[in-house]
Amino acid sequence: MNAADTPALLGGHPINDRPFRFNNAIGEEEKRAVMAVLDEGELSGFIASPGEPFWGGRKVRELQDMFCSRFGVKHAVAVNSATSGLHAAVMAIGTGPGDEIIASPYTMSATSTVAVLSGATPVFADIEDETFGLDPAAVEAKITPRTRAIVTVNIFGHPSRLTELRALADKHGLYLIEDNAQAPDALHAGRPTGTIGHIGVFSFNRHKVMQSGEGGVLVTDDPQLFEKAALFRNHGEAVVEAMGIDDLVNTAGLNLRMTEMEAAVAVEQFRKLPELNRQRIELADRLSSALSDIDGVSAPTVRQGDRHVYYMYAMTYDEAAAGMPRELFVKAMLAEGLFVRGGYLKPTYLEPMYQKRIGLGRHGFPFAAADGASRVDYSPGICPVCERLQSQELMITAVMQPPQTLADMDRWAEGARKVLNARDALMTAEAA
Ligand SMILES: Cc1ncc(COP(=O)(O)O)c(C=O)c1O
Repeated sequence: MNAADTPALLGGHPINDRPFRFNNAIGEEEKRAVMAVLDEGELSGFIASPGEPFWGGRKVRELQDMFCSRFGVKHAVAVNSATSGLHAAVMAIGTGPGDEIIASPYTMSATSTVAVLSGATPVFADIEDETFGLDPAAVEAKITPRTRAIVTVNIFGHPSRLTELRALADKHGLYLIEDNAQAPDALHAGRPTGTIGHIGVFSFNRHKVMQSGEGGVLVTDDPQLFEKAALFRNHGEAVVEAMGIDDLVNTAGLNLRMTEMEAAVAVEQFRKLPELNRQRIELADRLSSALSDIDGVSAPTVRQGDRHVYYMYAMTYDEAAAGMPRELFVKAMLAEGLFVRGGYLKPTYLEPMYQKRIGLGRHGFPFAAADGASRVDYSPGICPVCERLQSQELMITAVMQPPQTLADMDRWAEGARKVLNARDALMTAEAA
């Protein structure tokens, strides 16, 4: 093996000596917009009493209007995080103790934690192994008379099988909630993600494609869901009487309000969103074509008619074809200075809250029935596709984020080739 081919893990020269650079799309526009808010001095426009200020300040409303017109939805509720948006979503549909919410297990924990906070029991259905959203057949098998909603995640920036999931929800009289935190402006069958379910939720946290530090938006076409979400955002219990609202279900609210500064940043970021996505798609496409002749590492699937916006670049790894275990490949890539991670987050039901069945309070609520017996199965093995992807097949990298360049994509693929070509030496060294 000549020097250039020697893997860095075995003492060779790393293929990449440039550190990963974090994406920063905050520019002069965001700075000016925040300064304008600061100059005005009204840093939040909300008041928890009936009247105009109940609905938020000028920038909050501008952001909401932009979401409505851009995505063709009737209502938007800006909130202080996607977690808050998901919480408002499950409350808006009237979820409570005794209900079940079928959720994806391959996601950030908030997707299903909000069900627990509403007093409902999360039920996990398996995902499909192409684009990692909920598998409609697996969901249908989990529907019971207690089921109230399905929460799928447009994970890594690719839409779930939303048309089928919506049809399934409609067939059984359930709500479909899209956790669209990772997929702003993705398309499914030509339609924007977040708008195919009854409710869609977007995130603007610092790591998302568009950001305002923290923040999020809930969108819906349903005026009742909109009203309930807005009540939950802003201390609903204090205003229902004066607002003449008779249906009190889940009107006890919190403070989920977005500040005017966050909204000012989000407005500018939302204007840039098509360009931010375009840059990621260009880099991801380059990486996918550079990987196309590499055995064992498969580029993300983009389903026909869909648009992937690449919050993350999620590959699948075939250990048999690669000729080495995933963890050794990852270790060797990291030594080359190329970022990759084996798996994403462990299936949610394997977290202690579910395994130990301790949710709200000290008596097993909402997981245990009154007699203490558990109603829902969270055993390892309940979602085999998800578990297989996490333990063996899925790998993610954020290398397709600007300001990384097309040359960085080529270098990443070159590094993968270098590592796999050295599989025998790496395996021998690992065994020693
Ligand atoms: C899929 C998914 N859902 C929900 C959230 C929660 O978003 P936020 O941080 O805005 O509350 C995240 C954030 O990482 C996420 O990736």
